[in-house]
Amino acid sequence: GAVPEDFGPAALKLVEAGFDVIDINFGCPVKKVLGRCRGGFLLSQPETALEIVSRVRDAVPPHVPVTVKMRRALDDQAESRDKFFEIFDGAYERGAAAITVHGRTVEQRYNGPSNWDILREIKQHAGDRVVLGSGDLFTAQACLDMIQQTGVDGVTAARGAIGNPWIFREARALAAGLPLPDPPSLHEQRDALREHFRLAMEVYDEKRTAIMLRKFGIKYSELHPRFEELREAFIVVSSLAEWDAVLDEWYHEDLPGRRRVINEDSPIFSETCEVA
Ligand SMILES: Cc1cc2nc3c(=O)[nH]c(=O)nc-3n(C[C@H](O)[C@H](O)[C@H](O)COP(=O)(O)O)c2cc1C
Repeated sequence: GAVPEDFGPAALKLVEAGFDVIDINFGCPVKKVLGRCRGGFLLSQPETALEIVSRVRDAVPPHVPVTVKMRRALDDQAESRDKFFEIFDGAYERGAAAITVHGRTVEQRYNGPSNWDILREIKQHAGDRVVLGSGDLFTAQACLDMIQQTGVDGVTAARGAIGNPWIFREARALAAGLPLPDPPSLHEQRDALREHFRLAMEVYDEKRTAIMLRKFGIKYSELHPRFEELREAFIVVSSLAEWDAVLDEWYHEDLPGRRRVINEDSPIFSETCEVA
């Protein structure tokens, strides 16, 4: 939404539903969100954005952290940069516990790289205030590199975790000074694929789940030694039985997984924050 008055009650509902943190999104570049003056568009409206932060902070119990997600600006104009910092500083003043910054402008959508130099500048500006970095963290090593190169307090991986939830254990191992763990074995992958379908079925009906999970299957398939053929199998799934049949056929032997290869043809680059 974009009406500040709506945010308090909405945030409270989420707390009542059991969520631990309320994260306010001022970063989404998707047209249907922008068109309705939401998401990333709010980076051009500091007063409204900050009013939203206040409403949410006031509405939820003090022990529930309220965090904010921003892109580094609406676009590359100096005025947009000023507005970014107005919202950034104002949000902490109004009680935001942390701010995550994606190093792209809204205008940029997903084109061009996430600007880590600007993330470093933002963290320097923030001092002790908690800043998380976002953008282009496709491998566990990239997560550590961003922390090291920009000084941010932590990072969030989005597209790099789609079809590869193991990125988190890998990053944790590297952060602890351990070697990069092996990619997940095929049985580990199969269990995650099964669980993913089961969880989606809690929200959607079987047919919709199957069609929606095709694209996730394709992403998981990058960790399979025969990913090119497996991808074709996921593309045609339209029921739970067919999903299970793919898992039975392709994942029955517990072979070692393949490490995901990141290049510009990789399907992870086609992702936006548009949800089903
Ligand atoms: C499918 C998808 C859904 C997303 N949903 C949200 C969201 O609800 N709120 C938000 O602040 N960012 C959202 N994002 C943006 C990501 O948090 C992240 O900032 C952006 O994708 C850049 O990081 P990445 O290169 O690791 O993907 C989403 C991204 C993707 C790919």
